Amino acid sequence: MPAILDYTKNVMFLENLEIAEVSAGGVKIINHKGKKISRKVSCVKWDKSQAEKGGFDHFMLKEIYEQPKIISGILDTRTKRSKVYFEELKISKKTLKRIDKIAIVACGTAYHAGLSGKYMIEWLAHIPTLVDTSSEFRYRNPIVDKNTLVIVVSQSGETADTLAALRESKKKGAKVLGIVNVLGSSIAREADGVIYTHAGPEIAVASTKAYTAQLTILYLFSLYLALLRGRRTPQKIRAYLNELRKVPHLTRRILKRYGTESSDMKLKAKEFNQEYHKRLKLYCQEDREEKRRAPNCCFLFLGRNVNYPSALEGALKLKEISYISAEGYPAGEMKHGPIALIDENPWTICIAPESKLHEKMISNIRQIRARKGIVVAIATEGDEEIKNVEAQYIIEIPHIEQTLTPFLVAIPLQLWAYFVAREFGEEIDQPRNLAKSVTVE
Ligand code: AGP
Repeated sequence: MPAILDYTKNVMFLENLEIAEVSAGGVKIINHKGKKISRKVSCVKWDKSQAEKGGFDHFMLKEIYEQPKIISGILDTRTKRSKVYFEELKISKKTLKRIDKIAIVACGTAYHAGLSGKYMIEWLAHIPTLVDTSSEFRYRNPIVDKNTLVIVVSQSGETADTLAALRESKKKGAKVLGIVNVLGSSIAREADGVIYTHAGPEIAVASTKAYTAQLTILYLFSLYLALLRGRRTPQKIRAYLNELRKVPHLTRRILKRYGTESSDMKLKAKEFNQEYHKRLKLYCQEDREEKRRAPNCCFLFLGRNVNYPSALEGALKLKEISYISAEGYPAGEMKHGPIALIDENPWTICIAPESKLHEKMISNIRQIRARKGIVVAIATEGDEEIKNVEAQYIIEIPHIEQTLTPFLVAIPLQLWAYFVAREFGEEIDQPRNLAKSVTVE
């Protein structure tokens, strides 16, 4: 509920001209006529320490480190053997069996989580799924009806465009499921059903833990639908859940290797910073007549299949906090435009873990290297082939079933954005021009 807090009077001004008076004895809500109003009490299990940095330099880093615990918390509370539980989901099994289409609608990072959701829902549950940004969806007269399930994904639960998309979908008769982090938020209240991500308060503007929590819920929801609609046997679901349960431990390993002050990733970020300034300086010294443009010190993020959304998210993270231009692309699109950018200036982050499309990524990397491009590759430990393509830096992630790699890939991408922004001396938790919750268009 959007509210304005007046600390001097212990009063909160709420929606609809209502006022909440906060005292040691409780909270009293009165309307504009001074009449007391009673409201349902919901308990938020967040504690004070979650709103403190806990020894980390920035909330963003703290939130990156919280991810293994949050993912294992979700798995512990929502799964048992081959079963997935969504107790608060008020949409009936009958409805979920009937729907013939899913539309996932969200903004920014939540949209990227939604894109991953599409891959999983279509693969596991075989339900045609479209994904759209809320600002496009709400104005394009989307084709949704009573047989469509619209899933709105939002950390804050207050994003104006996503809320408008939810209302538009309900008007058209669709059932709306909210995947939301903030308890009792507008989206949680207005959706037909809600699944909470329970990631705790996310303070840094750049979303990290909410993203992997959204991924976890979307993966579990895909399994839930797959079982419900008879697309996967309980044995298959159980085997997949067992793989998913490896994620917290493996993400912890990645944090240990790359997230510390002594990690080589931090050194690489420093190298990028030095290189960037060296090239700029050179450019400034040279006769401008001879150089037609400034060096193209941007970042390209390439990924395929389930890691195409990872590429988009990696680029968003970096540009949000370092203000360096970064583009995410499906690697197969490289030849259709972005390859024109490649020379010795841009750094290309190639997400290339073990997968059925690994060979294709290797070939993308070769094409970049052939044009003197700088490559940072994210690859699976023990990948010998990646060593032959002469990437400048290889970030290794542990082995996991290929559709689960987005969880592991997310951690180095977040750390990379964090270390680069820190080298550049940027204000990490509160980047310029951005708000944590975008409640206006
Ligand atoms: C993420 O790092 C961004 N700050 C932003 O893209 C965010 O994900 C977007 O505004 C959506 O917010 P929501 O999840 O609260 O709806």
